[in-house]
Amino acid sequence: MSEKKPLNIGLVGYGFMGRTHSNGYKRVNDFFPDLAHRPVLKAICARNEERRTAFAEQWGFESTESDWRELVKRDDIDAIDICTPNDSHAEIAIAAAEAGKMVLCEKPLARTAEESAPMVEAVEKAGVANTVWYNYRRVPAVTLAKQIVDSGKLGQIFHYRANFLQDWTISADLPQGGEGLWRLDVDAAGSGVTGDLLAHCIDTAIWLNGSISDVSAVTETFIKERQHTLTGKVEKVGIDDACIFHCHFANGSLGLFESTRYARGHKALYTFEINGADASIRWDLHDLNRLEYFDHRDDSTTRGWRNVHITDGDMPYMDKWWVPGLCIGYEHTFVHQVADFLASLDNGTPCNPTFRDALETTKVCDAVLASAKDRAWKDV
Ligand SMILES: NC(=O)c1ccc[n+]([C@@H]2O[C@H](COP(=O)([O-])OP(=O)(O)OC[C@H]3O[C@@H](n4cnc5c(N)ncnc54)[C@H](O)[C@@H]3O)[C@@H](O)[C@H]2O)c1
Repeated sequence: MSEKKPLNIGLVGYGFMGRTHSNGYKRVNDFFPDLAHRPVLKAICARNEERRTAFAEQWGFESTESDWRELVKRDDIDAIDICTPNDSHAEIAIAAAEAGKMVLCEKPLARTAEESAPMVEAVEKAGVANTVWYNYRRVPAVTLAKQIVDSGKLGQIFHYRANFLQDWTISADLPQGGEGLWRLDVDAAGSGVTGDLLAHCIDTAIWLNGSISDVSAVTETFIKERQHTLTGKVEKVGIDDACIFHCHFANGSLGLFESTRYARGHKALYTFEINGADASIRWDLHDLNRLEYFDHRDDSTTRGWRNVHITDGDMPYMDKWWVPGLCIGYEHTFVHQVADFLASLDNGTPCNPTFRDALETTKVCDAVLASAKDRAWKDV
């Protein structure tokens, strides 16, 4: 293959996602050798000088910036990757698009649909490539689920059921706000489990089962006050600690979703199940290389749930990795997303989910929160 075209990345934020994305950029050409582009870790942007320098050295970034505004101005940056808390996504993405940069943004697109819509407008007006890191679409078993649903094998779909359960905020001593704990601060996060966890479930659901028409939700904030890391004061907690909603999909099926950070024993239990007239599938993030499948058309004497190990070379993405039977993990979903983004540049096609796709998820989250607040069904 001829020499690859460099794609200079300016990454903002060196936290959890800063690491997963950096790993994705570094690995992608080793395992997806046919892509025309080569990501270059051009600059890491973060405010703490000592830590951003250490991060740049550890991961091999060529330079650092302390202010994303300077990063966005640089001529040697092609794409801005936003790995910061939710309250900064809109400002950075809009400035990046206006400067003609491609934009890759962490989920949720922003805190609300109102804040997200101008981001969609900005990338579309500028005509720049864009994508949102709903990475669970790139788990091979989930991608395969999409292929199975699209093939019509399940028949008419009746039910879509998803959970995302954690247990890390049960202690009342945990403060809100600041590094790592910005998720408990409504100003930074926008919402609690709805925007953080259910957004993933909603994105996958819309991708697999089509749009959601209306919702009815209940939310709860179990711990009403927490000390704020930034102010030092005990302040009201504005996020939802738990959220349960049910909904109608446009295809006539019913949805049931639950998320909480108070399910003792569960760390990141993201599961979904889809029941169709002819067949059902289910998936569990804790066992992400497997897809369970039940087909009513099987001979009744051997009919049952099949537990399929998604590692053969004819399964999505798996021809790029090891040999059949050997697993891949969480970090590979980000390698896959980078690979799909680069492929989209090669082909001139959008990389899903685009900002416009992700706006749909944010609209569902808004409707869920409004429904819980007003104790009423809400149209999306
Ligand atoms: N796709 C996923 O599965 C997934 C998982 C976790 C987080 N996320 C999303 O990724 C984003 C970041 O989450 P995280 O877990 O990496 O958070 P984190 O707290 O680990 O890291 C956030 C980083 O942003 C930096 N930062 C904050 N404001 C900044 C600014 N103005 N300029 C430069 N740097 C700034 C912080 O210093 C920190 O390095 C969030 O939007 C979150 O919802 C997505």
